[in-house]
Order: sequence, then structure tokens, then C-alpha cells
Amino acid sequence: MTASTRVGRFTLLYAVSRCEVSALEFALVNNPLRAGVQRYFEAPRLLAMGGPTEGGSVLEMGCGRGVGTGLILDRFEADRVDAFDLDPRMVRRARRRLTGRADRVRLWVGDASTIARREMGRSIAWVVAEKSG
Ligand SMILES: C[S@@+](CC[C@H](N)C(=O)[O-])C[C@H]1O[C@@H](n2cnc3c(N)ncnc32)[C@H](O)[C@@H]1O
Repeated sequence: MTASTRVGRFTLLYAVSRCEVSALEFALVNNPLRAGVQRYFEAPRLLAMGGPTEGGSVLEMGCGRGVGTGLILDRFEADRVDAFDLDPRMVRRARRRLTGRADRVRLWVGDASTIARREMGRSIAWVVAEKSG
């Protein structure tokens, strides 16, 4: 897959060689221990640092299976979350997890490196800093 990003008057083109995380990362992210770390370690610390969004709209990049998406709604008190992940399997899991919250959550398969500029102006949480490919 080829991706492109506009930087000023230049268009950067690069190859995204895979859309699925490795089996190891898949296992590391999709387990109860990871969910516990998010719930009991990361969320409290992020809340202590920045507080809740109090009704804001949040863009979540690299949402994985959607545990963080639920926390952003419940603990960070966002009104709605737009969340995407490069790996379609993650998005499918997130959809299942967040069934019943479709009125407040939009999920899609997407690449953070090509995200539309209009999305970047929004408040952002749970950002992943990972190089794909
Ligand atoms: C370490 S996992 C974190 C998942 C979840 N946010 C969590 O905290 O458990 C990184 C996630 O980012 C996704 N990812 C990696 N590169 C991405 C990109 N360029 N755009 C969107 N998602 C990406 C992966 O598919 C994976 O689900």
C-alpha cells in the first residue's frame, strides 16, 4: 500500500508495507493485563496530568481493540470519540466491544500518517507513536 502526506508544497510518498501488527504485538495488546494497565495505571495518571475533557470530542489514533475508547468516554468524560487503527482486526474487535455506543463512537480503519489535516485540529488522546511498515 502506498501512502502520501502533504507537507507545505511537497507531497511525501512512502510505502506502508503491512496493515496488521505482528502476532507478538497482537497478543500483547489484546489481553486482560494490557486492559488493566490502561484502566488502573495509564488512565489515572493521564487524568492527574490533564483532567477530564468534560464533554469534548476526542480523536484516538491507534485505538487497538477499543479499551481506551471506552475509558475516554467513561473516565475522561468525552462526549464522543472518533477512533481508528491501521489493523482491521483491531477495528473489528473495537466495534464488538463498543456495540451499543455507536451514537458516541465512530470507528474506522485508517493510517495516522495520512490522517486529514482537519482531524488534527481536534483534541487528541491515546496517541500511539509507532512506525508502521
Ligand atoms: C501498542 S498498540 C496500542 C493499542 C491501544 N491504543 C492500547 O493502548 O492498548 C498500537 C496500535 O497502533 C496501531 N497502529 C500502528 N501504526 C498505526 C498507524 N500508522 N495508524 C493507525 N494505527 C496504527 C496498531 O495497529 C496497534 O493497534
